[in-house]
Amino acid sequence: MPVQTHCPGSRTLHFDDSGALRTLDQTQLPFSRREIVLRSADDCERAIATMQVRGAPLIGAVGAWGLAFALADDDSDARLESSLHRLLAARPTAVNLRWALERVRRRVAALPRGQRAPAARDEAAAICDEDADCNRRIGEHGARLLGALASGRPLQILTHCNAGSIATLEHGTALAPLYRLHRSGVPLHVWVDETRPRNQGASLTAWELAAQAVPHTVIVDNAGGLLMRQRRVDAVIVGCDRVAANGDVANKIGTYLKALAAHDNGLPFWVACPVSTIDPQAPDGDAIPIEERDGREVSHVAGRLPDGTIGAVQVVPDGSPVANPGFDVTPARLVSGLITEHGVFEASAEGVAEALAAATAGPAARTAVR
Ligand code: MRU
Repeated sequence: MPVQTHCPGSRTLHFDDSGALRTLDQTQLPFSRREIVLRSADDCERAIATMQVRGAPLIGAVGAWGLAFALADDDSDARLESSLHRLLAARPTAVNLRWALERVRRRVAALPRGQRAPAARDEAAAICDEDADCNRRIGEHGARLLGALASGRPLQILTHCNAGSIATLEHGTALAPLYRLHRSGVPLHVWVDETRPRNQGASLTAWELAAQAVPHTVIVDNAGGLLMRQRRVDAVIVGCDRVAANGDVANKIGTYLKALAAHDNGLPFWVACPVSTIDPQAPDGDAIPIEERDGREVSHVAGRLPDGTIGAVQVVPDGSPVANPGFDVTPARLVSGLITEHGVFEASAEGVAEALAAATAGPAARTAVR
């Protein structure tokens, strides 16, 4: 298999000389930079399901590569459909997975056998390239918005979960504007929600921000309300796993509570996402499937043990029932706007329709801010 160069090493996904896809195992961060090697649809499905790769855009890209690997083995219609459905079932909430898989299917379905596998690879590579470019543009639009809030003191931004570069191909969504502001010299400090139960804020966002020397402080998930009330937060920005047609947004569990606190304190609550995160088939947030995850993520906390190994300690009494919904829905009325690659749109049926139209029309940027 030839060396694939569409996703260079600076990105979250890259190819080695054997044609295998390589990426960091995110379950090991920030303590170990262990790479995983993905050579098949099964590898990609497993990496998504176990959250070795996670974050809506990255899940979509790895799913697309999984389908391309499947078609390289067998490019029949039956294999296309069975692999697509297996990959789709790996995680239910982030619509980017469905979007990417359907995009690869649209590209190859009408092609004769023999031409499907290379076309699928081209499409997966295009999804990666476009994601990096979308996030760069989200960074530009978001930096304009957040930069306008700068006053005499460092800008104080709160974020939840990880919507950074490792949740995407490059740059991140919610973190892209923050990286851009930091690079351009705007004084900035980020409050990082730890994001129980899996702590993607504490382990991944803090790791990324530290690597870019962005000042930040990790807080427990319950601290945000107090900080907002004390006027120690200027704005909240988060990523997103699915936007419904009416502008409701699904993101990591706990996001809704931050939106409520921001609303009560008169603070902007921005959602950064590519247009591929919009699901026009979901009329509102109630139609978004919410992933129910293993209760062990609640009963146990994972981290580095005193002997240096990564393990989990139990924090819930034996036998106590636990529940673990992975995402929640923030109603559109609490969202100040959707920061997309095409500009900033109102979180409403009209705004969502405009964002979709802008994506169809091409790259012309729009700014329709509430
Ligand atoms: O369960 P995860 O870690 O995949 O959840 C990730 C999030 O909720 C992110 O905010 C979202 O996917 C946007 S990533 C750019």
